[in-house]
Amino acid sequence: MALSSVRPAANYPPGIVGVHTLPADHHEGPWDSIITPPGLKERLLGTGLLILRHGRALGQLNGAPHGLILLSGPPGTGKTTLCQGLAQKVALALAPRGATTFVEIDPHAFPSDMLGEGPRAVGRLFSDTLPELAARRPHTIVLVDEIEALAVRRSTASFETNPVDVHRATDALLSGLDLLRRSCPQVLVLGTTNFAAAVDEAFLDRADLVLRLGLPDRPTVERILREALAEAATVFPGLLGVASDEALISELADRCTGLDGRRVRKLVLSAMGSRPDVALDPGLLTAADLRAAVDAELPARPQ
Ligand SMILES: Nc1ncnc2c1ncn2[C@@H]1O[C@H](COP(=O)(O)OP(=O)(O)O)[C@@H](O)[C@H]1O
Ligand SMILES: [Mg+2]
Repeated sequence: MALSSVRPAANYPPGIVGVHTLPADHHEGPWDSIITPPGLKERLLGTGLLILRHGRALGQLNGAPHGLILLSGPPGTGKTTLCQGLAQKVALALAPRGATTFVEIDPHAFPSDMLGEGPRAVGRLFSDTLPELAARRPHTIVLVDEIEALAVRRSTASFETNPVDVHRATDALLSGLDLLRRSCPQVLVLGTTNFAAAVDEAFLDRADLVLRLGLPDRPTVERILREALAEAATVFPGLLGVASDEALISELADRCTGLDGRRVRKLVLSAMGSRPDVALDPGLLTAADLRAAVDAELPARPQ
């Protein structure tokens, strides 16, 4: 789900793709849209609140938190969306004590030339930009999406296949995180990764909480399908028939189990775009269109 910035990210150094002030009504939605196993959201919200509310006090203890939560799992399992939702939920809970700045960082938006510009930009982000942003409000949440692009596991990254820059970027990220923790204990860093095995061990060690999101199980696939159809029917009432056909939803769910959540949710859209007449009037969508969209999505099975 795209979030709108309060200021154009272009005003910020490379790597930052969004800066938002939370809580904000238009950021409601992501948290509830992702279906997770019982207890996962409570744990996530609990850890986020603990770090932001008591980070300074906890910093005096042995085993003080690093202020880092990592979500790992296959692409399309809701990691980025859940982090965006978490930022809003944490900001809402802390609103009586002041607003929250939510900063989104895309590692792919750093310069990646061979002259060390990428690692230097990462270093500046943590030593200058984030502390400056954090000084403006009582709470700051930083989302580093697809962090494996920055925190490449140094033990397995070979110097032949990975430019030295990769190693420098990992070092820059780790020292940057430590610096940020010391200077700004009121900052919570959220990281996502599609590939935990590629993330540097020292980075994983720093995480106060690592949560793994798996592919949705069958009941979850069924709920995603039901919600996607119901949502589409609010825009195109002609879809109310298929949206309330429980036997159809159950049949589709049987066949879609094994797909990631993003692909399941996109099935409705893909069925709507499968024929020009349905595209022009999505209310014409039939059960057969949905079945065909599932056929197109699944790998061909040997006969
Ligand atoms: N568990 C889930 N429950 C509901 N929707 C999901 C789930 N997982 C993925 N989705 C759908 O897929 C979309 C993409 O998820 P995203 O957060 O980009 O995944 P990731 O960051 O893991 O690649 C979500 O906005 C949501 O519509
Ligand atoms: Mg993502």
